[in-house]
Amino acid sequence: MAPEDQNTTLPIVRTVEDLSTIVADWRSGDARVGFVPTMGALHEGHLSLVDHAAGSADKVVVSIFVNPAQFAPGEDLDAYPRTEKTDAAALATRPADLIYAPNAREMYPDGYDLGVEVGGPSQGLETDFRPHFFRGVATVVTKLFLQVKPDIAVFGEKDYQQLLVVRKLTRDLGLPIEILAGATHREWDGLALSSRNAYLSEEERARAAQLYAALNDVAHRLADGEPIDKARDAGWQVLKGAGFKPIDYLEVRDADTLAPLTSLEGEVRILGAARMGTTRLIDNIALGI
Ligand code: PAF
Repeated sequence: MAPEDQNTTLPIVRTVEDLSTIVADWRSGDARVGFVPTMGALHEGHLSLVDHAAGSADKVVVSIFVNPAQFAPGEDLDAYPRTEKTDAAALATRPADLIYAPNAREMYPDGYDLGVEVGGPSQGLETDFRPHFFRGVATVVTKLFLQVKPDIAVFGEKDYQQLLVVRKLTRDLGLPIEILAGATHREWDGLALSSRNAYLSEEERARAAQLYAALNDVAHRLADGEPIDKARDAGWQVLKGAGFKPIDYLEVRDADTLAPLTSLEGEVRILGAARMGTTRLIDNIALGI
């Protein structure tokens, strides 16, 4: 552990070696290890995932790593907020035991070449607009899982497609890790908490909650018996009226597979992604009928 990392009330490790030493020590005492992967810029949504993990584990590791592999050239990798000191202070108020904050070289040493492709739920939706994204997420999550070796890991439902991708990669690789889902946290007007909300101007922020309103509009119409296409088109108009541009998708999908639906059967998820100014927002809700 570097000396500058010993001043926060929560230990921070930056290498797999230091991480492994601490986790092995916990395990020798039979501790169940929980894990919450993050890219930092922590908000209440992330912190609630830590609480959730602590409910099913004796020790909780939180990783902070802005993963270059999930950003395409021209996306917001450089602008992405890096707030490690305030993140560490926030985590010290929650049941977290260790921060793992590797640098890019620790994760992707010179000559690193491997990528993890998941298929299934990684197809469509986000992938139609960010083709690189899930390969980057799946690769870093697989590496983090192998490094932390948790018993459970918690992912937010806010990134619903990501949650399904992680579940599938865990199942397909046969990793002995239970994936838990944490509920989306929202502002007073329904805007889902996201580190990227910090990019919104005051005026954009006022309109941004219409993404949640559009998802609910679709849900209410479906519950009232409107056909999927008609309900979807009405939700699209809500987004358009609020000034979202472009609207990447607003879809009604099977909640387990994300396959498109022509009729409402089984568990249903309504998912949307659209840009408010230069900020791309995503959100989703379950259809509760
Ligand atoms: O959801 C995120 O913050 C990231 O995609 C994750 C899971 C930490 C991987 O970099």
